[in-house]
This record gives sequence, C-alpha cells and structure tokens, in this order.
Amino acid sequence: MLFSNTPVLTIYADCLKGYHEDTLLGMGKEERIMASLTWLGHAAFMLETGGYKILVDPFITGNPAASFKPDDSRTDFILITHGHGDHVGDALKIAEKTGAVIISNDEICRWFEKKGLKVHGQHLGGGFHHPFGYVKMTFALHGSALPDGSCGGNPGGFLITLKENGKRIYLAGDTGLFGDMRLIGEEGVDIAALPIGDNYTMGPEDALRAVKLIQPGLVIPIHYNTFPLLHQDPITWGKDVETQTLTRVLVMAPGESITL
Ligand code: NI
Ligand code: MN
Repeated sequence: MLFSNTPVLTIYADCLKGYHEDTLLGMGKEERIMASLTWLGHAAFMLETGGYKILVDPFITGNPAASFKPDDSRTDFILITHGHGDHVGDALKIAEKTGAVIISNDEICRWFEKKGLKVHGQHLGGGFHHPFGYVKMTFALHGSALPDGSCGGNPGGFLITLKENGKRIYLAGDTGLFGDMRLIGEEGVDIAALPIGDNYTMGPEDALRAVKLIQPGLVIPIHYNTFPLLHQDPITWGKDVETQTLTRVLVMAPGESITL
C-alpha cells in the first residue's frame, strides 16, 4: 500500500522495486545523481534531470499548499500548461531573475516574449527535443485565459521523455476526462500526475477512469486541497486506484521528491 504518509522515498523504493535498477548498472556511486521530481503543491513541480532544473506551473506565491519554496535561483526551463493564474504563478518573476526559457503553447509564449523573456512555443500534439528531453504538448479539456484576460490559446499538458534515462512523465494539466487519454497511455507512461480536485478539473471518480485509460506505472494525485473548494481525500482515492488497477499510487506532501 503506497498511499500512506510514510516517507516518500520508502514508498518509492517499495513500489518501484527493480524499476530503475537497470539505469544504475555500471555506474559508479558518485555518478548516481538521478533525475528527481519534487511536488511543490497544487500543480507545481520541480524536475531535475541531466543537470537541468525545470519548473512546471510554478504557483508558489499565494499558494496555500506551497509550504515548500524551491530554490529557484537557477532555473533553466519553465513549463506552463495553460494561462490560469494558479499555473502561470511566479513564472514571470522567476524567468526574469534566472533567464529561464518558458515552454508553453504559442499564445502564452508570445505573451511572455512581449515581456522580454526567452520562450519556446509549441502546440498541441507537437513535440520538441529540448536539452533535458522530448516534450510533447498534450490536449486538455479546460480554459486558458491569462491573468490579464489575454487569450492563452488552448490548454494543454506535457508528455516528457527524459533524455537521461528514457522515463516518460505525463503531467496532465487542468483537465476533464477525455477518451484520448488512452492514446497518451499507449506511449507507455511511467509516471502520471492527474488532477483529482473536481469542480475545475476531473474529480476522483473521473481521475480513476483516467488511470484506467492511461495505465501509468505510478500516479500522483494533484490539484486538490489547495482551497476548500478542491477538498478531496487522496488516500481513499489511492485505495480505489490500487484495488481496481495495476497502477501504484503515490500521495506526496508539498516539498517531497521521488527519484526517477
Ligand atoms: Ni486552470
Ligand atoms: Mn488550476
């Protein structure tokens, strides 16, 4: 059972036994600096891989769930799924400070470019080989207006294949359930982060159906309990997922990391 509040690395070691051992073969101990994914609360993640630091939907300031503030003094890339304030978050401030490249849909990238930032615009279904891995933008069933009301194009998610070890991570973004999640699953998803908060995104029941379509090795519930409106019980949800699917569940606390 993985949905306990025991230390996350213990949970990880248990649930993914043998999962990443191949990548360690032949490597010296000092070289075992592996990729990691840290949940910052809500939909925000910090991905560290291949010497790059990547922030996703960096909603830190004003996020009641962000008890952990990442060290953003060096950020290389910022991935933004859609234009809503709880996803654009601190991107502007962090990019201004660090020179990080914003990766998002083209409309959102043009918005940041006008503010003098470095951007790499993509669009739904399109992928690009960034230095840290191949990033494909996926469809999401949601809205995408930017904080000032500008058009933020279509909302999306990210399917990231790490250059470092080939691990594939699906960050769904804010979305309702859609049947083409099955197509995303066909690519072979190691880790999926799915919203379960309901109201603005999938709730627990639809997120369970999403797991059945995607069939990831591991699923991390996100976008819940940030505000009273998003109140959910991830433990109960995790039990349902593990009872009804082969996917393992990892309930993280903000600031916790897993090795990829
Ligand atoms: Ni949203
Ligand atoms: Mn949101």
